[in-house]
Amino acid sequence: MTQPPIPAAVLPIVARAPGKCILFGEHAVVRGQPEVLLAIDLYTQVAIRPSPEWRLNGHIGPVAGHRYLQAAIHELWSNGTPLDVTVVSRIPKASGMGSSAAFVAGLAAAIGAAQGGVDRARLAQQVFTIERNAQGVGSPGDTSAAIAGGYLTLNTEVAAVGDPLWSVKADESRWTVRRIGDPGWVWVVAYSGLPKATGPKVRAVGERFASAEGPELLERFSDVATAGLRAMAQEDAPETGRLLDENQELLRTVGVSHPRLEALLDAARPAALGAKVTGAGGGGSIVALPKPGQETDLVRRLARAGAVPFATGPAAHGVELV
Ligand code: PMV
Repeated sequence: MTQPPIPAAVLPIVARAPGKCILFGEHAVVRGQPEVLLAIDLYTQVAIRPSPEWRLNGHIGPVAGHRYLQAAIHELWSNGTPLDVTVVSRIPKASGMGSSAAFVAGLAAAIGAAQGGVDRARLAQQVFTIERNAQGVGSPGDTSAAIAGGYLTLNTEVAAVGDPLWSVKADESRWTVRRIGDPGWVWVVAYSGLPKATGPKVRAVGERFASAEGPELLERFSDVATAGLRAMAQEDAPETGRLLDENQELLRTVGVSHPRLEALLDAARPAALGAKVTGAGGGGSIVALPKPGQETDLVRRLARAGAVPFATGPAAHGVELV
């Protein structure tokens, strides 16, 4: 599934990009370890049009305080004329489902189109740079999912994984992004309603990884993500579920679970092969792999436990013009 570049277009331009769900390896990916994730079929749509002054969703005020918009203007549109930016999103904010990456991907693709078109490898670097400048920390997993769509893995070199889509860098670090096959499963993602803050969590976990126990912890994260990738390649759902639980153990160990998230994991358990926190944690969402035929039951259980659940599958396409 090679995705075409973003073509040239004239303003007004509308682009939409998918959110994401991390299955294995969040946090450790920031330190160059493997990650497995998918773009999910919830989208953010961004429209840009010429305007006498900068506007965001019709208002002048919010532009100055929007760090992602500011970082994008700085990176891609610093000498440009003002734009009216309109955002419509079905991805809950600060939920761990990649709303900021989808916003920046949509905006950068629209700007790229206005500037004569842009290929996806270049866009992947631009969007990651913008997100990292706005957030201060992070890996290019979320931004790559918004640009590529489908299932992806970062930093893995195992059989059955194809050629790199792109490599993305920041400071001294480099991540390699590859596409992996779709095992054909439905996932249930459930937002706890507790917003999470990525930067502080990534910094706190980073300190853990930098401590004496760091190397061993990172190796355990890497092993579970690599085993998860293999289980998915073999379409082995029970083993994938078991590994989701194992990854959750590690996330607990590094302190990114939360009683509210644990309550959701408990609620999911009878109808799930496995479940874990997804994203930065401390709030945000969980992801669960339903037992065959129990997708609806799982959604119901999570809704009864007070979450906002979605049954979801891979977004076939990454960011595209609408
Ligand atoms: O919660 P989110 O959507 O910001 O995901 C963060 C994933 C981390 O691995 C914790 C950070 C990153 O940029 O990879």
